[in-house]
Amino acid sequence: MMRTHLCGVLTQANIGDKVTVTGWVNRRREHGEHLAFVDLRDHTGIVQCVVDNTVDVRSEYVIKVTGLVQQRPEGTVNEALTTGQIEISDVEVEILSAAEPPPFPLDDRADEVDEMVRLKYRYLDLRRERMQRNMRVRSKVNAAVRSAMVRQEFVEVDTPMLMPTTPEGAREFVVPSRQKPGSFYALPQSPQLYKQLLMVGGLDRYFQIARCLRDEDLRADRQYEFMQLDMEMSFAEVDDVLAAVEQAVLDAAEAATGVRPGDIERMSWHDAMNRFGTDKPDLRFDMELIELTETFAGTEFKAFGSAESIKGINAKGAAEDWGRNKLDGLTETAKSFGAKGMVWMKVGPNQELDSPVAKFLSDDEKQALAARCAAEPGDLLLLIADEWHTTCEVLGELRNRLGRPPVSEGPYKYLWVVDFPLFVGVDKTSGLPKPGHHPFCHPHPEDLDKMETDPMAVRAWAYDLVLNGWELGSGSIRIHDAALQRRVFALLGIDDDEAEKRFGFFLNPFKYGAPPHGGFAFGLERLGAILAGEENIREVIAFPKPQSGLDPMTGAPNEIDADVLAELGVRTLPPAT
Ligand code: AMO
Repeated sequence: MMRTHLCGVLTQANIGDKVTVTGWVNRRREHGEHLAFVDLRDHTGIVQCVVDNTVDVRSEYVIKVTGLVQQRPEGTVNEALTTGQIEISDVEVEILSAAEPPPFPLDDRADEVDEMVRLKYRYLDLRRERMQRNMRVRSKVNAAVRSAMVRQEFVEVDTPMLMPTTPEGAREFVVPSRQKPGSFYALPQSPQLYKQLLMVGGLDRYFQIARCLRDEDLRADRQYEFMQLDMEMSFAEVDDVLAAVEQAVLDAAEAATGVRPGDIERMSWHDAMNRFGTDKPDLRFDMELIELTETFAGTEFKAFGSAESIKGINAKGAAEDWGRNKLDGLTETAKSFGAKGMVWMKVGPNQELDSPVAKFLSDDEKQALAARCAAEPGDLLLLIADEWHTTCEVLGELRNRLGRPPVSEGPYKYLWVVDFPLFVGVDKTSGLPKPGHHPFCHPHPEDLDKMETDPMAVRAWAYDLVLNGWELGSGSIRIHDAALQRRVFALLGIDDDEAEKRFGFFLNPFKYGAPPHGGFAFGLERLGAILAGEENIREVIAFPKPQSGLDPMTGAPNEIDADVLAELGVRTLPPAT
C-alpha cells in the first residue's frame, strides 16, 4: 500500500512514529506566517497535518503525507476526534490528484442540499461520513446473511436475469430480443419461479443475494432495483422456514449494530389487523385499537348504528396539539383511506367529551366510551365506524400518523406476522376472490374444509417479517400437489386450459415429483436502512434512482439509435402529450 496507516486510527500510541497517510484534504486552515493545518480524511476519519503554507493543497485534493506523529501542543487538543491528541508534523506532501472545489460541502451540511444535486454528484456524496457508514452497514448485512445461510447448509445458486414474463404482481422491466425481433425477456421481479424449480431439481436448500427489478412508483421503501436475501427449502414447514430466516436476520442485525436482538415474536394476521390496524404493525409504540362495537350497540347515533365494526384510538395528551383545522385535515386523511368519516373527541378537564357529535351520544355511552379508552383529561380520541377491515385499516393509518417515532429513534421491534388470509377481497367485475399473495400459496390445512363454503375465512401458510412498521420480507409454503392447486385455481375462476396457458411452464415440472417446499425473501435495503437509522432506502444504496426514476448522474434512461432499434424490431412512439 502507498500508506503505512489509515488516518482515523492514529493515536497517542503512535507518537514518535514516522507514518505515511493518504486521503482527501478535508479542510485547510492557515496558521501563523509559515504554517497551515491540513485535515486529511480517509474512510476511517480525519488526522491533522502541519504543513508549510507554501504547499498548494486545497479541499478535496488527494495527497500523500509522510511525517512524524507528535503530541498536539496544549490547548489545541480536540476531544471530539479519536486522533484529536496528535498531529503529523515535519511532513513531506505529495499531491496525487488536484481537485476542483466540490459543488457542495462534503459534511453534514450536505444533508440539506437538494437531493438531485447529491445524486448528480453521488461519487462525492459517497465520500461523506454518513454514506461511508451506510455502505459499510450494507456490506456487513450482506456478509452476515450469506454466512448464516451457508452455515445452515443452504446452497448459493445464481438464477437468470433474462426470463419469461411471470404473474407476480408488479409491472416488469422488459428487454427486447435481437434474435427474435418483437419478443421480449422480462427482468426478474424475484427469482420465485427458478427457486421453486431448484426444489424440483433436488437442491434441497437454496439461497441467493438476488437482484430484483420492478417497474413500480418509487417511494421511501421502494426502488426499481433492489436486493433480496432469497431462500427456499424442501421438506420444510412454516417453523423451519421462519427459524432459518431468523438466523440470517438476527446475525445481520448483530453485525450491523453490535447487539443481537432476542427471538422474534409472532402474531397472527388477524390479531395484527384487529389490534394495530395493519399487517405491518410498528410495535415501538402502544396506541392499540380499542374495540367499541358493543359499547355503541343500540345507539341512536346514525353513523354508528349500522356499522359492522366501531373502533377507536386514544392519542394520550394530544388534544392540545390538534386544533379544528388540523382535525379537519385528519378527517380528510381518514376519508382518503376509505372511511366515510371520522369522529374526534377531546377529553376535557372534568372528563367531559368535547366533540361535534357528543350531543348525539347518551351519557351512558359517553361514560362507557371514556372507560374503555381509559380516557384522561387532555387525551384525543379518534373513532371510526365501518366494515371491520376498513375500520382497522383507517385507524392503523391514523395511529401511525399520530404515534410513529422516526426510524432513527429505535429501538428495533421485529415481528413475524403469520396466517395471512388466502384471499383478500373480491374482484368487482367477476365477483371471484382475489389471491392474497399469489395463487401458489398453500392454504392452512385446518381451513381446507372451508375453501368452497367460506373462502374468505381460509388462512394461508403465508407469513411476513416486519421491523418497526416496515415489511422486511414475505414468504409462504407453496402448493406442491396438483389436485390442491386445481382447487385453488377453480376458486379464482381459472380452468385447466387457462392454467396451462398462463402457468404451464411453471407448474408442469411439478408433475415429475415435487417435494413439499416453502421459502421467503427479505429486502436487504430495507433491513440496511433501518439498521443504519435511515428513513429512505436510497440512503443505503450507492447509486439509487430519485423518485422520478431518471438518473441525474448518468442521464439514464437514454434514447437509442434508430439502427439499434431496427435490429431489435422496436419502433418508438412520440411521447404521449
Ligand atoms: P415480495 O414481493 O413480498 O416477495 O418481496 C420481498 C421483499 O422484497 C423487498 N422489496 C423491495 N425493496 C425495495 N424496492 C422494491 N421495489 C421492493 N419490492 C419488494 C421488500 C419485500 O418484503 N418471491 C416473493 C418471496 C417468497 O414468497 O419467497 C417476493 O418477492 O423487503
